[in-house]
Amino acid sequence: MSLRGAGLQFGQRALWKDLDVDLRAGEFLAVLGPNGSGKSSFLKVLLGLQRLHSGTATVGGRPVERGSRKIGYIPQQKSFAADTPLRARDLVALGVDGHRWGLRLNSRIVNERVDGLLDLVGARDYAKVPVGQLSGGEQQRLRVAQALATEPELLLCDEPLLSLDLNHQQAVSALINRQCRERNSAVVFVTHEINPVIEYVDRVLYLAGGRFRVGTPEEVMTTEVLSDLYNSHVEVIRANGRIVVVGLPDATTHYHDDAHSGVEEGH
Ligand SMILES: Nc1ncnc2c1ncn2[C@@H]1O[C@H](COP(=O)(O)OP(=O)(O)O)[C@@H](O)[C@H]1O
Ligand SMILES: [Mg+2]
Repeated sequence: MSLRGAGLQFGQRALWKDLDVDLRAGEFLAVLGPNGSGKSSFLKVLLGLQRLHSGTATVGGRPVERGSRKIGYIPQQKSFAADTPLRARDLVALGVDGHRWGLRLNSRIVNERVDGLLDLVGARDYAKVPVGQLSGGEQQRLRVAQALATEPELLLCDEPLLSLDLNHQQAVSALINRQCRERNSAVVFVTHEINPVIEYVDRVLYLAGGRFRVGTPEEVMTTEVLSDLYNSHVEVIRANGRIVVVGLPDATTHYHDDAHSGVEEGH
């Protein structure tokens, strides 16, 4: 995927502009930034759900389009209602059982494919359990399986680790990384916290205060760069391969800085 001179604006408020970023097959891009900085909107641009204010966005060398099977998408997490009338395997089958070239895949092929995906995410044991009865971590594994069903060239993940415990965070991150390395998918991974994926990240796109920086984690995650982006002094500390950012302006400060910046969570 490639963005050139990309800008996104709602009313008077520019989320970001003049954004150039390329991502090749097999690369892992982490998108970081405070709430309301435009991370989810960045994914929506790539999904063809949000038009740019300026510049261009392409996937696989062609303008973005809605409903592309080249793209897998893990939306920001919401739990299924307890009475959702779908079993785990039905959810995964929804990703597989599309209409490709207008032909419906036959059910044996679908079943085999669904089994393969359930194995991949370690969900075979609960394949027949209604999704609403599964834990957040189990549900999230199924969303990953569903997003991988089309063998996507580009995998877009919107805070897929949110509300998962540490074990599940590691399992889901490792799974997405495998898709990137072994199946050569390009991965865009929106996250609040870089540490769970730090060993996988090739590049970081950091969005804050209407501006951004792109580069390797070493280039972007520094006291100088983040203090500049936040327009306030923050300290980046590295310890045991982890990165801790100290002194981040809190949500209240953001709200105070910019009347349009929502206190609401991004969707
Ligand atoms: N369609 C829209 N119309 C107007 N404002 C929007 C729209 N989509 C998002 N926004 C605003 O843009 C900002 C960034 O949203 P979002 O991309 O969800 O941020 P993030 O995912 O980084 O939290 C928020 O302030 C949000 O309210
Ligand atoms: Mg968001």
